[in-house]
Amino acid sequence: QADLKSRLLEIQKKAAKYYYYQLRQPKGRVGYEYLKNRALTDETIQKFGLGYSGQQTKELYQYLKHEGYSDALLKESGLFSMDERSGVYDKFWNRVMFPIMDANHRVIGFGGRVMGDAKPKYLNSPETKIFDKSRNLYGLNFARSSRKGNLIICEGYMDVIALHQAGFSQAVASLGTALTTQQAILMKRYADEVLVTYDSDEAGTKAALRAIPILKEAGLTMRVINMKPYKDPDEFIKNMGREAFQQRIDEAQSSFLFEVEVLERQYNLKDPAQKTAFFDETSKKLLGFSDEIERNNYIEAIAAKYGTGYEALRRKVNQLGLSLG
Ligand code: CTP
Ligand code: MN
Ligand code: MN
Ligand code: MN
Ligand code: MN
Repeated sequence: QADLKSRLLEIQKKAAKYYYYQLRQPKGRVGYEYLKNRALTDETIQKFGLGYSGQQTKELYQYLKHEGYSDALLKESGLFSMDERSGVYDKFWNRVMFPIMDANHRVIGFGGRVMGDAKPKYLNSPETKIFDKSRNLYGLNFARSSRKGNLIICEGYMDVIALHQAGFSQAVASLGTALTTQQAILMKRYADEVLVTYDSDEAGTKAALRAIPILKEAGLTMRVINMKPYKDPDEFIKNMGREAFQQRIDEAQSSFLFEVEVLERQYNLKDPAQKTAFFDETSKKLLGFSDEIERNNYIEAIAAKYGTGYEALRRKVNQLGLSLG
C-alpha cells in the first residue's frame, strides 16, 4: 500500500512535468497564450507549475508506458480513461493544466481548463488512493507559510493564483466542492481567522452561507469579503488591482452581518409588515450570541444599519429569549 502510494505520487509528478514541458513547446503555445491573456506572469506560471495537455489523445499514456508503468497502475492514477471497447485515452487533452498539490508540495491530482467556452469548463482528477478532494485545499502548500495571520478561502484555481500573484499569499480554494469539515480543520492548523471570498453570484453566496457554520465549528473566526460588482477575486483584482482588494479585506464584515444581509434580500424593508418580519427573524439569529456584550454590539450594528431603535430591538431579542426559555 505504501509502495502503491509512492508509485502513484511518482506518476503525478511525471505527468506534471510532462504538462509543464508541453506548455513550452510550439504546439503548447495556445495554452501559454491563454494563461498570458489571463494576466499571469511567467513567474506565476512557474510557481504553480501550470502546464498544457497535448493535442494528441494518448501521448501521456505512451510516455508513461515507456517509463515502465503497468496499465493497472496507470489506471489507478486517474489520468486515463481505459475501457475494453474504446481503449486507452489521456483524460486531459487540449486543456491548460493546474497541478493540485498537498500541503507538502506533492502533486496529487490535476484540474484542466478548456481554453474557450466548451463544457465542462474544468475537468478534475477523480478521487484516487492519493487524492481525496475533501481533505485538501488548493494553494495551501504556499499559503501555509504566508505568515499573514489569516487564510483567504475562495472558489477556484484562478482565484488562488491571481491572489498570490497580487501578494495575497494566504489564499486557498476549496475547488468547487462545498467546504468540508476536514478542510476547515486543516485551515485551523495554520490560522485562526478565515476571510471568505466566494463568488458574488447565487452559487457563491449559497456556498459561503454553508461554509460559515463549518468554519465556526472548527473554531475559526471569519469575515466575508465583498467582491461586487465583480464575480470573483480573479476578476476583481484584474479590474481593480491589489490595493482595492486590500481595502475590501479591511472592510470585510463579520459573517453574522453577511448572513443578515443575505436574509434581508427576502424582505422589502419599505413595507412595515415585512420589515417587522425581518426583525423577527434577525432577533432569533441574535439570540445565538450568548455573550451579552457581543450580542448588544450586534444589536447596535443591526439597529443602525437597518433603521430601528437600539433599545426596542434589544428588548425584542431579550423577550424572545425569555419566551424560548
Ligand atoms: N469547477 C469544476 N468544474 C466545473 C466548474 C468549476 O471543478 N465544471 C471548480 C473549479 O475548481 C473552479 C471552481 O469550481 O475553479 C469555481 O468555479 P467557477 O467559479 O465556475 O470557475 P472559475 O474558477 O471562476 O473559472 P474561470 O475563472 O477559469 O472561468
Ligand atoms: Mn463560481
Ligand atoms: Mn468563479
Ligand atoms: Mn473566475
Ligand atoms: Mn430587500
